[in-house]
Amino acid sequence: MQLNPHYAELNESYLFSTIAHKVADYQKAHPDADIIRLGIGDVTLPLAASVTRAMHDAVEEQAHKETFHGYIPSEQGYGFLREAIRDYYADHGVTLDLSEIFISDGAKSDLGNLLDLFSQDNTVLVPDPVYPVYVDDNVMAGRKILYLPANAENNFLPMPDAAPHADIVYLCSPNNPTGATYTVEQLKAWVRWAKQNDALILFDAAYECFVTEPGLARSIYEVEGAKEVAVEVCSFSKIAGFTGTRCGYTVVPQDIRQGNLSLNKMWLRRQTTKFNGVAYVVQRGAAAVFTPEGMREIRENLDYYRKNAAVIAQALDEMGIWYCGGKNSPYIWLRCPNQMDSWAFFDWLLENANVVGTPGEGFGACGQGYFRLTAFGDADRTKEAAQRIKAALAKL
Ligand code: MLT
Repeated sequence: MQLNPHYAELNESYLFSTIAHKVADYQKAHPDADIIRLGIGDVTLPLAASVTRAMHDAVEEQAHKETFHGYIPSEQGYGFLREAIRDYYADHGVTLDLSEIFISDGAKSDLGNLLDLFSQDNTVLVPDPVYPVYVDDNVMAGRKILYLPANAENNFLPMPDAAPHADIVYLCSPNNPTGATYTVEQLKAWVRWAKQNDALILFDAAYECFVTEPGLARSIYEVEGAKEVAVEVCSFSKIAGFTGTRCGYTVVPQDIRQGNLSLNKMWLRRQTTKFNGVAYVVQRGAAAVFTPEGMREIRENLDYYRKNAAVIAQALDEMGIWYCGGKNSPYIWLRCPNQMDSWAFFDWLLENANVVGTPGEGFGACGQGYFRLTAFGDADRTKEAAQRIKAALAKL
C-alpha cells in the first residue's frame, strides 16, 4: 500500500474548517461574546414554501407502495428536474439538450469528480484569489497548477491576454470570493482563448442568480461556441438555500470531443458507475424552485440577501473602505484597513466587533490584504454587524 503523497502538499486543513476552529476557540475563551458569523457563505433563510411542499408530497409518495420510488431510473437525474433546468436556461437564451444536464448532490462534488475525466498531465490555470476547492482538488491529483493574478488593476477579472498556456481553466462568475462578474463580452475572449489553446473551461455558475445588471453573463453558454469548450457547474445552494439539502447540476455539452471520446459520454459513464443519483425527495424539491410560485419566493429570498449586501456596503462606504462585489453577488470583498494583513484583520475584527469574516489570503496569495464578508446572514444580525464594524473602525 502506498498513500497518495500529494495530500502532504495540501494546507493542513480546509479554509472554512480552519476558521470554524479559530472561532470555536475564541468562543470558548470568551463564552459571553455574541459572535456574528459572516464568514462561510451559508444561507440563513429556510427553504421556500413551494420547495418544502413538494418535498412533503414526495415523502408521502415514498410512504406508499403504489407511488414509491426506488433506484433513480437515470443516475443523470429525473426528467422532470432536467426539463425544468433546460427551461430555466432557455429563459436566458441558452439552448441545452436534456442529455447535457446531470443532477448531482452539489457543485463541490462535481468540481472534484469532473477531474476523473482528464489526464493527470494537464496543466490547470486558476485565478488567484480563488475558491480553494479548485486548487485542493488538483493538488490532490498531483496536477501542475498555474495562477492568474486577479487584483484591483484588472478589477479582479483576469483576462486571457495575460494567461499562460494551460489545458484546463477555472472561471467562477459572479466570483467567489471577490464578487466580480464577467460580461458576456469578456467571456467571449476566454472562449476564444480556450479554442486557441485546445483547453477546457470549467465554469462555476453557482452565484448566477445574483446577476441583475444587463450585459453580465449568467452562463458561459451565452457566448456562441462555448459549448465546444466549456463545462458549467451550478448549484441549488445559493439560489434556493440547499446548502443543507444538497442538490446541484452540471452541464456537459455534447460538442466537447477528442478523437473517439465524447466528454458527455465519459461523464455519463463515470456517474453511472460511481454515483447512484440524488434522492427523489430532494429532486422534487429542486424542481419546485422553477415553478412560477417557487421562483417568486426565491426572488424574495435573493432580495433579502441583496439588502444585506447593501447594508454592509453602506457601512464600508461611510468608513471609506474600498470594496467590490455585493451588487451581482452575495460577497463583499474589501481592502483591510491600515494595510493590515488578512489574518490580522480577521483576528482584529473578531476581537473588536465579534464579527467573523473570511481572510482574503485564504483564497490565494493575491487575496492578501483583502477580506470577504457574506450577505447570506440574518438581516437584523447583519445590521448589527455593520454597526459594530463601523464602531470598531472608528476607533482604529
Ligand atoms: C463559501 O463560503 O465560499 C462557500 O459557501 C463555500 C461553498 O459553497 O462550498
